[in-house]
Amino acid sequence: MVIYLSGEVETAPKLDELTPRQIVMELDKYVVGQAAAKRAVAVALRNRIRRQKLPADMAQEVMPKNILMIGPTGVGKTEIARRLARLSNSPFLKVEASKYTEVGYVGRDVESMIRDLVEIAVDMVRAEKTEEVQEKAEQVAEDRVLDLLLPLPGRKPAGRTTPPSGTEELEDPLDAVPDDMLLTSGDGGADQTQRTREKLRQKLRDGKLDHRIVEIEVRERNFPTLEIITNQGVEEMDIKMQESFTNLFGGGRTKKRKVRVDEALDYLIQEEEQRLVDMDQVTRIAMERVEQSGMIFLDEIDKIAGRESGHGPDVSREGVQRDLLPIIEGTTVSTRYGMVRTDHILFVAAGAFHVSKPSEMIPEMQGRFPIRVELDPLTVEDFKRILTEPKNSLIKQYTALLDTEGVTLEFDQEAIDLLAQFAFSVNEQTENIGARRLHTILEKVLEEISFEAPDLREKLQVIDGHYVRSRLADIVRNQDLSRYIL
Ligand SMILES: Nc1ncnc2c1ncn2[C@@H]1O[C@H](COP(=O)(O)OP(=O)(O)OP(=O)(O)O)[C@@H](O)[C@H]1O
Ligand SMILES: [Mg+2]
Repeated sequence: MVIYLSGEVETAPKLDELTPRQIVMELDKYVVGQAAAKRAVAVALRNRIRRQKLPADMAQEVMPKNILMIGPTGVGKTEIARRLARLSNSPFLKVEASKYTEVGYVGRDVESMIRDLVEIAVDMVRAEKTEEVQEKAEQVAEDRVLDLLLPLPGRKPAGRTTPPSGTEELEDPLDAVPDDMLLTSGDGGADQTQRTREKLRQKLRDGKLDHRIVEIEVRERNFPTLEIITNQGVEEMDIKMQESFTNLFGGGRTKKRKVRVDEALDYLIQEEEQRLVDMDQVTRIAMERVEQSGMIFLDEIDKIAGRESGHGPDVSREGVQRDLLPIIEGTTVSTRYGMVRTDHILFVAAGAFHVSKPSEMIPEMQGRFPIRVELDPLTVEDFKRILTEPKNSLIKQYTALLDTEGVTLEFDQEAIDLLAQFAFSVNEQTENIGARRLHTILEKVLEEISFEAPDLREKLQVIDGHYVRSRLADIVRNQDLSRYIL
């Protein structure tokens, strides 16, 4: 079978093997400019690899150099973090520091970020391990499906009465076998059966048996909390609750289900994967990875700096800073998989700091972020590049979206120049929201085409300077209007 892939196949580079220069080059594919910030994160990441190569007693002493990214809104702070997360094979979590000041959060909840990070690591390692056993799981599942369709002689009688490994054939298995493949009685029967089985395997692989129905045993899924939320009669709820409790305490119940062969195969592959993956090992590796190379991106850190608002239901910002301190400094947090040391987790914090200043954070907190990098405000030239260069730039996104309607979008250079200039001047005239302005501008320019796309006769739509001007000029000239529309 040939699988045609559209576009190139991405072979994601593993961040941990990259030199700082290569990390910066990877980030360059998505984020325009901001060289200082990229260099800082690249060095911090490389330092952790270096640390892990040191003798244990020395490695213990080397603390991560946490980074504070400072820059106006919409210039790429979060984007750098987002890209690192994709690149990184380290557990990575992004949280908004401001969320801990919201009503309903108490100090202890700050630790939940570590628990979340552990969950991410567990998922990550589980996925890796599942990938490792996948081939094996597919083989076993295939054999189990073949057992359902055509039991081997040895297992055949057993298969009829007590199903082999939790499965049972539903129809006469020989129905699945074309007449010319049916066994002829006599000597060499076992051999013959084996050959028939292999022919059947080939048919299965070719998808020719997909529509057949077999019966398999599936584990019942139970979501005990689900019923409690639903708005049903009390009586029914009681019954459901009882069921839930039997499920909870009576272990995994199974039930028989008739499914198509292809579904059975999928289900059994998953079941085998779960059986083959050693979850103890997964959690052990995951915890180790969190402690050695975990990374937390603390966004909106400026929202917890600055003067106290004094009253109101919000948790005090200073309080949140104090709760964060031990975690950043190194403490032990208990999670459902065990205790985690946070000493070597790398923290990257980011904030616009246009109202508050880093110096308004409590002194201990300032000390926890020894590396400061400033991100530059974006220029018209940056905007042009942001529109076109990144791997998934806005223009590429819109082009791809409209392509699904059979409409080809083409931007000429003048249009790009104008879009960048308009974005820049609206930022100057109203509020500077950085590259986010490009989103609003482009949305406005393409509004008409987006709406009409399915009905357009002319499938090639060229966006030139004239078109951009016609869509935007009036709005940009009128400050009040642009405040609302762009
Ligand atoms: N330097 C850049 N290169 C490419 N795209 C950028 C750049 N800066 C911003 N963008 C785009 O603009 C949008 C907003 O950027 P981002 O989320 O990084 O802002 P931010 O710096 O975190 O701002 P805030 O302080 O408001 O959180 C994103 O969609 C991002 O793709
Ligand atoms: Mg941000």
